[in-house]
Amino acid sequence: MTSDESPSQTAQTAEAAGVRQSTQVAIIGAGPAGLLLGHILGQAGIDYCILEARDKEYVLGRIRAGVLEQDSVDLLAKYGLDADLKANGLTHHGIYLQHEGERHHIDFAELTGRTVTVYGQQALVHHLVAEHERLGSQLIFEATDVQPTQIESTETESTHDGDRASVAYTAPNGERITLDCDYIIGADGYHGVCRRTFPEGTLDVAERVYDFAWLGILADVAPSTDDLIYALHRDGFAMHSMRSSTVSRLYLQVSPDDDIANWSDERIWAALQTRLGTEGWTLTEGPITEKSILPMRSFVVSTLNYGRLYLVGDAGHIVPPTGAKGLNSAIADVALLAEALQAHYAGDDTGLEQYSDKALDRQWKVQHFSQWMTDMLHVHPADGSAEQTAFDFQRQLGQIRYVTSSHAAQVSLAEQYAGLPFVDAR
Ligand code: APR
Ligand code: PHB
Repeated sequence: MTSDESPSQTAQTAEAAGVRQSTQVAIIGAGPAGLLLGHILGQAGIDYCILEARDKEYVLGRIRAGVLEQDSVDLLAKYGLDADLKANGLTHHGIYLQHEGERHHIDFAELTGRTVTVYGQQALVHHLVAEHERLGSQLIFEATDVQPTQIESTETESTHDGDRASVAYTAPNGERITLDCDYIIGADGYHGVCRRTFPEGTLDVAERVYDFAWLGILADVAPSTDDLIYALHRDGFAMHSMRSSTVSRLYLQVSPDDDIANWSDERIWAALQTRLGTEGWTLTEGPITEKSILPMRSFVVSTLNYGRLYLVGDAGHIVPPTGAKGLNSAIADVALLAEALQAHYAGDDTGLEQYSDKALDRQWKVQHFSQWMTDMLHVHPADGSAEQTAFDFQRQLGQIRYVTSSHAAQVSLAEQYAGLPFVDAR
């Protein structure tokens, strides 16, 4: 990022719009998407600045999902961002699918030659922030009133030429800064500001809200399983994941309007024992260190691009957490957009022109998989009709019995869970 040093100009712009600075790419949001994009651009010699509304502690404290697809792992390795992942990530060869106390292993490595890595998003964010700090990157926390602006262009051909965009924000010291840039990247999540700056009529939203939610816990206890367990039970979905050899992560299907205060630690463990229990297997309990209820939605925008603004990650799409595709989708977008931006600065705009279509094409396949997993594994209380719920439950048992007995179905699950290939920007 460069400051405009000219005294007369500084005085002029200070009067009009506070301090004026410039960069090539302004990234809004320091979640995994924004942090990762910054690293890749920096390594390509592209100037960037990341503006994050929240403080560092908040960003580092957020607990999210924890499975990386093979391509996500490979991408982090390619850019030398995998030191902590290599030390603390747990390679998994498959998952267990369970119904009515029957547990089946789906072996991804055997079925597709691919594996996944269990590694908390929180650990990834910690590492990416630490690396930015080590490099002295332009990563600004507590940047408030962030306002992306671009000269509206009606043409499509020269979207990437001509006028620059800018992002105004208030720095932590109270100074109002206008950051001129070539491109604005909306990596600001579902609640972010960027998507809302698309002019009316340029962006539609496809959305589905679920009538169930997940109650998630972290517990200081060694996992009781080698691979993740996804279980359908009459009382609802349950899942056993992990963060390390001493920390377990577990989930329970609950009602979206349930209150975490209704769930004592004893009640949580009792529900987990019932829903995950199988003969001859023991779920070891331990102190719960975190518990919260997470809403679920599916959401996709009709385009990830308007003029000089591009959306990545949760700003453009959300999946329900079954299958852990949220973080991987964000990384897949970043891989594609980073390559397109590099090509742009080398004189080729094809990648930028195709970014939205290519990213959304992959995303809709991921939406299908996430919803398929979610529908298969949750009790559907939908319209309040007990008959419908009972019918669905039997149908879902049929589905799980099919998946766990058909080689073709297992290959399909494994291929999607271990991750569809990242798309090439060329
Ligand atoms: N100005 C600056 N920053 C903002 C603004 C704003 N107006 N609005 C939101 N942000 C910040 C948020 O505080 C957050 O830190 O943008 C960041 C967005 O981060 P995430 O929500 O983590 O989104 P993303 O980086 O796309 O990561 C996707 O997160 O929700 C999970 O399942 C999802 O794992 C996936 C991942
Ligand atoms: C997690 O470990 O948090 C996790 C794992 C797999 C999922 C969802 C969440 O499908």
